[in-house]
Amino acid sequence: MKVPQIDLWAHHEPLMKEFHQALDRVVKSNQFILGQEEKDFEAACASYFGVKYAIGVGNGTDALGICLRALGIGPGDEVITTPFTFIATAEVIIALGAKPVFADINPDTYNIDPDKLEAAITDKTKVILPVHLYGQAALMDRILEIARSHNIKVLEDAAQAFGSTYKNKKVGGLGDVTIFSFFPTKNLGALGDGGLITTDNDELYEKCRLIRVHGSPKKYYHTLIGQNSRLDTLQAAFLKIKLNHIDSYNGARVANGTAYSEGLTDVVKTPAIHPDCNHIYHQYTIRTPKRDELKAFLNESEIGVGVHYPYPLHHQPVLEYLGLPQGSYPESEAAAKEVMSLPVYPELAEEQRSFVITKIKEFFS
Ligand SMILES: Cc1ncc(COP(=O)(O)O)c(C=O)c1O
Repeated sequence: MKVPQIDLWAHHEPLMKEFHQALDRVVKSNQFILGQEEKDFEAACASYFGVKYAIGVGNGTDALGICLRALGIGPGDEVITTPFTFIATAEVIIALGAKPVFADINPDTYNIDPDKLEAAITDKTKVILPVHLYGQAALMDRILEIARSHNIKVLEDAAQAFGSTYKNKKVGGLGDVTIFSFFPTKNLGALGDGGLITTDNDELYEKCRLIRVHGSPKKYYHTLIGQNSRLDTLQAAFLKIKLNHIDSYNGARVANGTAYSEGLTDVVKTPAIHPDCNHIYHQYTIRTPKRDELKAFLNESEIGVGVHYPYPLHHQPVLEYLGLPQGSYPESEAAAKEVMSLPVYPELAEEQRSFVITKIKEFFS
């Protein structure tokens, strides 16, 4: 039996008729950039998250950069984030001439540890940028409390957490501003690139909206230096179709994750869910000191697995200039050596799931 890490065709096949109808509508409308379908998708997202504003942009990385620009981040500023995330989170800070400052993770949830934040704050800190890794929210109450007491803004990277909740509130309306990615493998994925910014803050909304379209409040009139990062009408139309199913997609991931946790708890460290959070298993990530051997064994059995992430950010060659040696963030460094993500996509069949569990148990016997 083959078990791919993700099966996007299985995910999209049932929607093909609706996708074709959307393509037809958009091409006939002659609106390819933003447009009415994009406005409708933004409104549907704002209502889903219970926020005032949702802004469609080109991708999740641009969404982060646009928010940091709207928050006024530039040379000399510091932004605190986690060293255990995808490079985009830190890349955007550096691209603006600012400095990423890391705070280590909690070894159970892999999210930034609020207890490590105070020590990372300096008089240059302008933003805290937590990541809701793998589909579970970081501990937002503590993060917001610390940020507020230092007059620091909070930008959440929820690229992996569309539909996740914290204290029964949807991620997307917790901090000052939040971003999502619609990279095709995300829980809500486009048929290409896409991203979203959500906020209740009127000023941030206005700034982000301007930045995404050349700082232009009206045609050929520019009030600030912006960029070009708009969500395609076609992607918005596809995403709106998929948005109708997001809770059931996430529910299927949760069912898969729960079954894995029941089956694997004696042999590997299964994901820990904080009592204030749910987990929507963008990744179902186990942990074992035998990670590399287990990965090779599963690959031989044609089971696709991933490592998110094999290097903490401070050990990426591109960030060597920060001068952060081995031992700087021990929890992130240890996790990078031991984590591995199993196939958890919504269409994963029960037999495939059982096969994965059986093979992992076989490896450890
Ligand atoms: C945590 C995190 N942040 C940011 C991004 C960037 O999103 P995108 O690929 O849409 O630019 C991703 C997605 O890959 C991500 O996983």
